[in-house]
Amino acid sequence: MAATITRETIKIEKENGITWLIMNRPEKRNAMSPTLHREMEAAIDELATDPETLVLVITGAGAAFCAGQDIALTFRGRESASPADIRRNRQASAQWRWDKLNTFPKPTIAMVNGFCFGGAFTQVCACDYAIAADDAIFGLSEVNWGILPGGIVSWNVVQVMNYRDALYYATSGDTFDGRKATQMGVVNFSYPLDALREETIKMAKKLMEKSPAAVRYTKEAIRAVRFMNAPQAEDYLNAKSDALKYVDKENGRQEGMRQFLDEKSYRPGLGHFKRKQK
Ligand code: ACO
Repeated sequence: MAATITRETIKIEKENGITWLIMNRPEKRNAMSPTLHREMEAAIDELATDPETLVLVITGAGAAFCAGQDIALTFRGRESASPADIRRNRQASAQWRWDKLNTFPKPTIAMVNGFCFGGAFTQVCACDYAIAADDAIFGLSEVNWGILPGGIVSWNVVQVMNYRDALYYATSGDTFDGRKATQMGVVNFSYPLDALREETIKMAKKLMEKSPAAVRYTKEAIRAVRFMNAPQAEDYLNAKSDALKYVDKENGRQEGMRQFLDEKSYRPGLGHFKRKQK
């Protein structure tokens, strides 16, 4: 039975190690208001050290994942907001969608259940993995109303898409579906909408079977080395590997060797060792 926490614009559901963090303004297609930014920021902070949260899934309520920034409240609203509020809202928006999600210590999955526009690409790209409904509609719609993909959306899309696709979709404003998003690397997989949740749970369970420290250090390493040259990466990865031995309280390295070399109970190329959970 899922435990549910409801705030003004978000919902948090926890079940079997998976926490579903849901943008919850379905009547506005989960467009991101200043309140939603602040609530998401606080929730991600809490969940980072929450022992019940082993995998975090970000998704949207109703027909949309997220229709981008709330154009009325974020943009038009800015005209009458105080400089302090503008600054705080901008920080919250950037913090949760990139800084906090990108460095979240446990696996994160964006489950794109429907419309995904503009600013919503940042949280999709910040998550470690993304899974979409086949028919979800993605769009870098900014150009359609005279702005460019700001925040860090342009930077996000050029990281996950190839250069020509990023340029084409950002300048044309054409939409694409979940299948095309998979081909272009915006998401890992797409499935029919009625199978999406089940497939997300399967992926979360697979991740929960691995050593949490190894998964965390691996994802941190993959993210970090993208911006390094080879000698920097080699030095960093050696240091990171040494650090992993120290932080892995389950001692997966020794356990893996024991099961492979001594017990002969598993083959690393064909599956994972049985975690010795603390
Ligand atoms: N900002 C503010 N309100 C929004 C937004 C948004 N980004 N997206 C949807 N809404 C509101 C609509 O104004 C409408 O409100 P109302 O009922 O008070 O009139 C309600 O949500 C439902 O939207 P509809 O357009 O009626 O829903 P529909 O399912 O037909 O279409 C769609 C959904 C395609 C997502 C459409 O709403 C849309 O194009 N939204 C804007 C997408 C966009 O360009 N986002 C901004 C990207 S740029 C950025 O993020 C910086």
